[in-house]
Amino acid sequence: MARRLYGAFVGPRHDLVIVSRTLSGAIPLADAPEDLAFTEVRSRSQVEAMGRLAPKDAARYERLFSAGSSALLARKKGEIVGWGWGSTELDADLHPMGLSLRSGDFYIHDLYVVPTRRGQDIARWIHLRRFALAQERGSTTALGTCLRSNRPAQKALAKVGFRVIGEMRHRRFLIWRRSRLRLGSVPPDESAPGR
Ligand SMILES: CC(C)(COP(=O)(O)OP(=O)(O)OC[C@H]1O[C@@H](n2cnc3c(N)ncnc32)[C@H](O)[C@@H]1OP(=O)(O)O)[C@@H](O)C(=O)NCCC(=O)NCCS
Repeated sequence: MARRLYGAFVGPRHDLVIVSRTLSGAIPLADAPEDLAFTEVRSRSQVEAMGRLAPKDAARYERLFSAGSSALLARKKGEIVGWGWGSTELDADLHPMGLSLRSGDFYIHDLYVVPTRRGQDIARWIHLRRFALAQERGSTTALGTCLRSNRPAQKALAKVGFRVIGEMRHRRFLIWRRSRLRLGSVPPDESAPGR
């Protein structure tokens, strides 16, 4: 009860890191596992299948799809094991963190690997395939954001060459909102659970 009241008034604190990676040069896909297949999501039924695997995000996936974001699905032996969404333009309702993209930027977001498949480098191959596709379509920089407390996601981002280029802090109290964007190096979050 106390937590719900606190949430209603104060809302969650969001401390995010912003990461970036150049898309110039070859994307290292040579060692990609042969049993991992990728498809770009083209139909609502594919979006529904993702929603069944991650029910909390099902409504968001529908909205991302309707807003023109694209998703790349990874499958092993036909079974969906993860996906990553990407956008070249940001819709303020769906991406309220206040980041703006420039021409040539490709924003990678809503990465998800099904819980039983985590820790098997699947995020790595989703990222690298996304980079290659974005590069083919003329993007020059990949960008992402990630909660500072999300160590697995930060490790997955670092493994594919993303570097932290700044941070964002969002606070809310009743109708008061404050967002801060700071570019530059960011000290690690020592309180984040490590693995
Ligand atoms: C973040 C996420 C996409 C990483 O996917 P992944 O395929 O497990 O990524 P990787 O295999 O590259 O693992 C990344 C790190 O997470 C760690 N890890 C996290 N959860 C794990 C688990 N259940 N089992 C094993 N390793 C795990 C691994 O130690 C690995 O670090 P290492 O390579 O130094 O050992 C996945 O954990 C996920 O879907 N999380 C929920 C959604 C989310 O947080 N998305 C990111 C938003 S920015």
